[in-house]
Amino acid sequence: MSAGPRPTAVRAATDADMPAVRRIARRFGLLSGWPQGADFLDAERAFGTLLIAPGGSAASDAASGEDAAGFGGTLRRADLTHLGDLFVLPDRQSGGVGRALLAELLAGDGPKVTFASSDPRALALYVRHGLRPWTPLLYLTGPAAPLPAPTVRAARPEEIADADARASGGARPGTLAWYAAQPDVTPHATGAGGYAFARRLGDGALIGPAGGATPGECADAVLGALAATGARTGRIAVPGPHPLVPLLLGAGWRIADQDTFMADEAALARLRPDRYVPHPDLG
Ligand SMILES: CC(C)(COP(=O)(O)OP(=O)(O)OC[C@H]1O[C@@H](n2cnc3c(N)ncnc32)[C@H](O)[C@@H]1OP(=O)(O)O)[C@@H](O)C(=O)NCCC(=O)NCCS
Repeated sequence: MSAGPRPTAVRAATDADMPAVRRIARRFGLLSGWPQGADFLDAERAFGTLLIAPGGSAASDAASGEDAAGFGGTLRRADLTHLGDLFVLPDRQSGGVGRALLAELLAGDGPKVTFASSDPRALALYVRHGLRPWTPLLYLTGPAAPLPAPTVRAARPEEIADADARASGGARPGTLAWYAAQPDVTPHATGAGGYAFARRLGDGALIGPAGGATPGECADAVLGALAATGARTGRIAVPGPHPLVPLLLGAGWRIADQDTFMADEAALARLRPDRYVPHPDLG
């Protein structure tokens, strides 16, 4: 009887693993929205799970954390799991590494969401874990003027934590406080209950997470936060059914990239893609 292929071992990333994890993350261009201070990988270790598949090359000692074939991470919103990333080095792809990472990352109960890349292996693996592809997630970029600029005020993260829990499908006060403490990040609130985080990055601003009880409230919060930053340009990850899609594309914004928003039934019952604008890396 054949023993079959050896299953890939995966384990929680340690401090010593982080240089190898960040090398892979940079290789896939994942850290461009995190120019200084902490990054979303730190958030995954603090508020979710970050796993690596050790590389096992003869040249380096996997136990010393200098070598990795791939990594994957999640962030938690109460019992909801957001799969934030799953990346395997090109010369190790299609060998079961991604499957092994995912089996650990999505082993728990509770609703699950992710943004799948155009790699068919990613989408197929996620479908096998009960997620379904629901709608495109469009990474839009364009000029802040002359968009409408609804009134917003700067808010403390704890003031908008409940609105975020309703819009995103689960509470994450720790993650929101952590993000609000990063350089050039400001949470904003509208008078009507909408909220939006904005981060100044050069002469642009990244908006999200943002949400509201209605699609219009969410759109107002996003547009108000963008205007409040004074940035010349914006970057926003918008789900297909959101009213911001026709508004921004009608104003000449461009689709810089696109993923597929995937969720299981339990997550979709809580998170409405027409009234939530995720952060590209934090969900
Ligand atoms: C996507 C990725 C993480 C998957 O990891 P991997 O180690 O290459 O994948 P695995 O070998 O574990 O599994 C791939 C699965 O996809 C299946 N697959 C391959 N091509 C497929 C296709 N065209 N349609 C459907 N399924 C396909 C394989 O059969 C395999 O499933 P199986 O193990 O049950 O047979 C990895 O390829 C990667 O890093 N890609 C580039 C970065 C990226 O896009 N990451 C996803 C971010 S959301």
